[in-house]
Amino acid sequence: MDKLVIEGGKPLSGTIRIHGAKNAALPILAASLLAEGSVKLLNVPQLLDIDVMLDILRNLGCRAEHEEQTVLLDGANIASSHIPEPLMRQMRSSVFLMGPLLARFGEVQLYQPGGCAIGERKIDLHLRGLAALGADIEEKGSRIVCKAKRLTGAEIILDFPSVGATENIMMAAVLAKGRTTIVGAAREPEIQDLQRFLNELGAKVRGAGTDTIFIDGVDRLEGCVFEIIPDRIVSGTVMVAAAATRGDVTLEGAHPAHLTSLIHVLRRAGVQIDVGDGIMKVGASGRLKAVDRVVTSPYPAFPTDLQAQVMTLLALSDGVSVMKETIFEGRFKHVDELCRMGADIRVDLNHAFIRGVPQLYGTSVEATDLRAGAALVIAGLAAHGRTVVEQVHHIDRGYDRIEAMFSKLNGDIVRVTNESLKLQGQR
Ligand code: EPZ
Repeated sequence: MDKLVIEGGKPLSGTIRIHGAKNAALPILAASLLAEGSVKLLNVPQLLDIDVMLDILRNLGCRAEHEEQTVLLDGANIASSHIPEPLMRQMRSSVFLMGPLLARFGEVQLYQPGGCAIGERKIDLHLRGLAALGADIEEKGSRIVCKAKRLTGAEIILDFPSVGATENIMMAAVLAKGRTTIVGAAREPEIQDLQRFLNELGAKVRGAGTDTIFIDGVDRLEGCVFEIIPDRIVSGTVMVAAAATRGDVTLEGAHPAHLTSLIHVLRRAGVQIDVGDGIMKVGASGRLKAVDRVVTSPYPAFPTDLQAQVMTLLALSDGVSVMKETIFEGRFKHVDELCRMGADIRVDLNHAFIRGVPQLYGTSVEATDLRAGAALVIAGLAAHGRTVVEQVHHIDRGYDRIEAMFSKLNGDIVRVTNESLKLQGQR
């Protein structure tokens, strides 16, 4: 398995262009199945999760070509609407295919995606939403069979603003008969991007970004050319790394409006952030200050996907900070590894109490999930000495060659693959 070897202590500097958003691209790739014509997607990030989604689409009979950041899709010859269990297990976001396949083909077979390191990841809100649109849903063990001759618009009330459930219902409703209203919808920028994409196909969706979304069903959708928004979580990860290494970094292509809650927390810690037209400059020189309370909540509040990264920064800030994780029940798995690097963090249920320390120290650590892994990379870049991060495949799910991104910013980080370790062994 690949490892990342990091020599810490070098302030990051320079300019980086932020790649397309994983969490916008995944539902949009699934929604492409709704189009009768071909779809061309631009600014698609080159990530493991994107590769898996494209494999699933090919497995269903969809033509899918991926060249750099461009993807060409054509769902004209889809031969199946059954998602194989091994592919479901490989990436839980395959659950996004439920809505489009049900809307277009009247039937979908898939499997419970199962939990992951950060939590149980239930899909009951997805299933309840599709049932409200008229789908018959049968669960046999982990297998789920959804059928509907034609979906019919309905008012759906979400008792939690689930991102995935909001997106699945949107994608199912665009070909349903009549109007669907999603009350209590999630408001993330990725949902706004999905609305923009669906309307480019000829759908009639409005309200994304608010807590109520209206969808008027149409009979068919055509292809289009579409550019994915930049990844706000990758942007936030780079911003935190710049601050943690006391560097000075310019981000190109980031959308500051998608990061207001992070910017607020970083400025409270003493980070210098200048927002320009399509760029952001992030810098920090002296010691940073603790932030007494950071609570993860649905957008536009502070995002759970940046909790681990900010915790690393607060571990190096003067004073005691408190972080409360309200979205996922298992999202503190980076704490033990940070403490092995010298951090002083105590966890009590869904609260983490972080007492800043003068320095972290490099050692061998293990990524347990995507954002925990990113946090350990930031810790390694800021630490004194060498850090080796194992289980890098978790990080590759959401960051396009993270070592190249930070090397470009003067970070001393290299990827060591099994092959190169074998070659060294042969010397
Ligand atoms: C999306 O996951 C993102 N993934 C996650 O990013 C992100 O952390 C999450 O939204 C919250 O912002 C993608 O967009 C591909 P949810 P999703 O449905 O849709 C519970 C990353 O690091 N829930 O809003 O799965 C669920 O258990 C990933 O890029 C139900 O109970 O998130 C969780 O506790 C990690 N029943 C909470 O809601 C349901 O039917 C939030 O889930 C659905 C969700």
